[in-house]
Amino acid sequence: MKYTLAPSILAADFKNLGRDIEKVDHAGADAIHIDVMDGNFVPSISFGMPLIRSIRSATDRFFDVHLMVTDPERYIKDFVDCGADGITIHAEACRDVENALKTIRKAGVRVGIALNPGTSLSCLDYLLDEVDMVLLMTVNPGFGGQKYIESSTRKIKALREKFIAENRDIDIEVDGGVTKETIEKVLDAGANVIVMGSAIFNGNPVKNTEYFKNILDLREKG
Ligand code: DX5
Ligand code: ZN
Repeated sequence: MKYTLAPSILAADFKNLGRDIEKVDHAGADAIHIDVMDGNFVPSISFGMPLIRSIRSATDRFFDVHLMVTDPERYIKDFVDCGADGITIHAEACRDVENALKTIRKAGVRVGIALNPGTSLSCLDYLLDEVDMVLLMTVNPGFGGQKYIESSTRKIKALREKFIAENRDIDIEVDGGVTKETIEKVLDAGANVIVMGSAIFNGNPVKNTEYFKNILDLREKG
């Protein structure tokens, strides 16, 4: 299985964002996780298209855009145009989830669907043919640096077992509270795309990226 380390720039130093992105890129990050928050679907407001457009030239790494935005289908083209390589929308934020997912597919980027911790896996049942990745929030969205929600582990495990049973090659991304203390837990449960914000950008981003990338590389080697 391919493992991906995706540092979340929500936790980066915004006055030196390009520098922080280059640091984690050169240290081995596979993707850059970009948490877009609208202050409506989630309490916080983070950043949007202008910021993504300006950091696009800082790295060639995959831009993994996570839209914590109400009615995100309104913005799919804008985010693709400013540099998104993958767009993940929340099932809870769309009036017509299937149409929103098809819109991302038509735009030619990776398709992701996100579920909040309290949202059941059953809402995916009629959508899995439309997606490349499922993002399971392991905190309630809106802020970095929160504590991992322990019930997430069995949710990740159940979803990976479902994909194996149905022979589906779909990535499972986890986002929120993934640290030295919880990363083995989420990997054992079946997650393979790992978002980390504070665990990467608090302290030394280079050393932190190298540390976690090594863990994923060892997993990949089996
Ligand atoms: C929540 C955000 C955070 C962020 C990761 O809305 O999506 O989960 O990406 O933050 P850490 O890794 O600091 O919990
Ligand atoms: Zn995120």
